[in-house]
Amino acid sequence: MIKTLWQGMKRRYRRYTFLAPLIVVLEVLMDVSIPYVMSLLINNGIGKGDIGYVLRYGLLMVGLSIVSLLFGILSVRLGTMAGTGFSKGVRERLFHKVQDFSFASADRFSIASLVTRLTTDVGNVEMAFTMCLRMLVRSPVMLVSATAMALFMNARLAAVFLLAIPLIGFSFFYIILRAYPLFQQMLERMDGLNGRVQENLNAIRVVKALVREDYEIERFEQQAQDLKEAQIRAERLLIWNQPVMNLAMYACMIAISWFGGILIVQGQMETGDLMSFISYVTQILMSLMMLSRIFIVLITSRASAMRIVEVLDTPVDLNDDAADPALAPQDGSIVFEGVGFGYYGEERLILNDINLSIRAGETVGIIGGTGSAKSTLVQLIPRLYDVQRGRVLVGGHDVRDYKFETLRGAVAMVLQKNVLFSGSVRENLRWGNEQATDEELEAACRAAQAHDFVTELPQGYDTELGQGGVNLSGGQRQRLCIARALLCKPKILILDDSTSAVDTLTDSRLRAALSERHQGVTTLIIAQRISSLTNADRIVVMEGGRIEAVGTHEQLLESSAIYREVYETQLKGVA
Ligand SMILES: Nc1ncnc2c1ncn2[C@@H]1O[C@H](COP(=O)(O)OP(=O)(O)OP(=O)(O)O)[C@@H](O)[C@H]1O
Ligand SMILES: [Mg+2]
Repeated sequence: MIKTLWQGMKRRYRRYTFLAPLIVVLEVLMDVSIPYVMSLLINNGIGKGDIGYVLRYGLLMVGLSIVSLLFGILSVRLGTMAGTGFSKGVRERLFHKVQDFSFASADRFSIASLVTRLTTDVGNVEMAFTMCLRMLVRSPVMLVSATAMALFMNARLAAVFLLAIPLIGFSFFYIILRAYPLFQQMLERMDGLNGRVQENLNAIRVVKALVREDYEIERFEQQAQDLKEAQIRAERLLIWNQPVMNLAMYACMIAISWFGGILIVQGQMETGDLMSFISYVTQILMSLMMLSRIFIVLITSRASAMRIVEVLDTPVDLNDDAADPALAPQDGSIVFEGVGFGYYGEERLILNDINLSIRAGETVGIIGGTGSAKSTLVQLIPRLYDVQRGRVLVGGHDVRDYKFETLRGAVAMVLQKNVLFSGSVRENLRWGNEQATDEELEAACRAAQAHDFVTELPQGYDTELGQGGVNLSGGQRQRLCIARALLCKPKILILDDSTSAVDTLTDSRLRAALSERHQGVTTLIIAQRISSLTNADRIVVMEGGRIEAVGTHEQLLESSAIYREVYETQLKGVA
């Protein structure tokens, strides 16, 4: 896990990562030497009334403190730079990874969880990382060196204190071990809550339309309550940490003052030694406390780190590494050869035994009941998913032989769940083709029957669209998506139920414009209405993941019972 995170870190930040702890070590050495200088000052200076000595050693103490302060500032600075550099790198890698995701991987992680991973989780890990660079070095080094100094000053007195350490250690590990599972549980509930909020906000219109607000609020409150309880359980254990530490610390102080006092009275110890001894005890106990805090942070960030690594380690299951960059489709022909495909592997095939050959320039309609795998079939053409059996050929070559860019440049697809982005209409259209001129934009919009309504928008082509194009009607959105696809000047155009929200008159105008303007472009039209397919050269009838029949409208009326039935019910609807 750490290896995966580390690998992506830039060299500059790696340097900071090594430098920061080194400087922390220097800082600690300063901190630990100060009480020793103090004991010398008290014993030899004050004890013997030597003002010169007091001044010299006093200045030395001030000097050491300033150096320690400077080291402290420098180490925090380096640590913070390393931490922010680290999190920026991780975020970038996550984002790249998500961009490389195949549709299959994108289906597996939900949007909500990806958003949490890119924001909250990265933040948690960054905090832990920065803290570790400083505290995880500072506390053990301080613990060891202060203990050594205490032993060096007075081994007998140190024994008192060494007795307290096992007690502290025991309670500390007890708390940590018990707290870990509780924190794990708390984080899981936090995820649940995040997911709920995101899902709800994404679907806010549906929630309101179905008047589900009360229900949603209730579910939210329940989850917030669960989270609160888990949080209390975990924190309740942790609040013991501080008092136990304090108790141990003050008990030690009292014991040391007591025994130290006796030793001084007996003349076996000097006053300065006792004072610096107490400083060391404070340092030791402080580092123990710091250690326990770090462990808590590490525990809470571990879950986050694992969630990040899970994304980073997802193999890229679709790649075009083996493809020939020079290869481009000759024409818009499409061939399915014995294709079998399933979203969850070969055990559950959705498409079975598909054989279909489409000539370049042909217009093919696809019709079939909902869930008959029409969308699944056409998604294999631009290789949004890979087939499990057989192969798909575009322009005479297997789709896997093309670079993604070449293939997807030749195949324009308007997805069933199409999306627009926030930005102006013009910017959205240019997604199809960045170099498109304004004339080309307009021509594409005219063909897609979008020009008229776009010019009626407040600022025409410069009108800003909301996120996802919320300020357009469903049919308007569909027509803009078609225009965007036309701008790619594709060899193959796939319209997946893209005119479902467009009235029949506009629909027929659109088809007429397409067949006139885009002659030679292979066009696949998935539609529910047979009327949308009247100018198709051939129609494919799908049923349960298989091709039931292929033919012209007249042929299908003769040969396909399903087609006849659909035709008759739709005709009746009209009558
Ligand atoms: N991303 C996905 N992951 C898993 N299964 C899926 C996915 N998309 C579709 N399916 C399943 O594949 C089957 C075919 O779905 P598909 O979307 O191809 O149907 P369709 O013919 O386009 O239907 P519609 O007319 O409603 O658009 C369905 O049973 C569906 O549950
Ligand atoms: Mg579909």
